[in-house]
Amino acid sequence: MEKSKVTLKIKRFNPEVDKTPHWENYAIEVEPTDRILDGLNYIKWYQDGTLSFRRSCAHGICGSDAMRINGRNRLACKVLFKEMGATISVEPIAGLPVLKDLIVDMELFMEHYRAVLPYLINDDPPPPTERYQSPADRARFDDTTKCILCACCTTSCPSFWAKEDYLGPAAIVQAHRFIFDSRDQAADKRLEILSDSDGVWRCRTIFNCTDACPRNIEVTRAIGEVKQEMLFRKM
Ligand code: SF4
Ligand code: F3S
Ligand code: FES
Repeated sequence: MEKSKVTLKIKRFNPEVDKTPHWENYAIEVEPTDRILDGLNYIKWYQDGTLSFRRSCAHGICGSDAMRINGRNRLACKVLFKEMGATISVEPIAGLPVLKDLIVDMELFMEHYRAVLPYLINDDPPPPTERYQSPADRARFDDTTKCILCACCTTSCPSFWAKEDYLGPAAIVQAHRFIFDSRDQAADKRLEILSDSDGVWRCRTIFNCTDACPRNIEVTRAIGEVKQEMLFRKM
């Protein structure tokens, strides 16, 4: 396959020497089916070892390489060069503090995630086998089980940018996954947490989250279902 020349325009920031971030250009040759992550790896390995970014699986599973590519939140391992132009901008996801280059501090994001009790809660004694669930009951929350906590949704949400205390779409997706699980017993507790002023009602149905999700989760729909459930239970 023929290689072509592209320029990766990367927003760099080193807190030890820089006061503000700045852009740096890197010219590389890539095959059309190379991913942005391949380009970043090439730069790090052969041009500038100081470039910092997170990545692990390289196959859209771990969620660690979320970044803003040509102005849109994407996973670098899932975007092909042939889908982009000859000059591609790469910057950190927005709304979380930048630690270095493309690496942001995920602590606040994880704090919001932990706040919704993202695990099965069932105080009944464990049955001798597994806790059974019908295929229909399992299907109820199938979409939200696909979340890989990449933060593409929350960091593209203007409501989160405006107020970082907003729990954000990723946390609500995670809450949805358990609220609608027939084996779980803590839906009321989660809905109460989400009825707070920084919970679901801070969502203004902007849909950036749905557009950004690399797992094609219907994020806005999930948020709507949580809102409806709250109204249904008169919370
Ligand atoms: Fe990422 Fe989608 Fe989960 Fe948001 S809902 S954290 S975009 S996988
Ligand atoms: Fe934000 Fe998505 Fe709601 S972008 S406002 S969480 S629909
Ligand atoms: Fe794991 Fe991209 S490196 S999702």
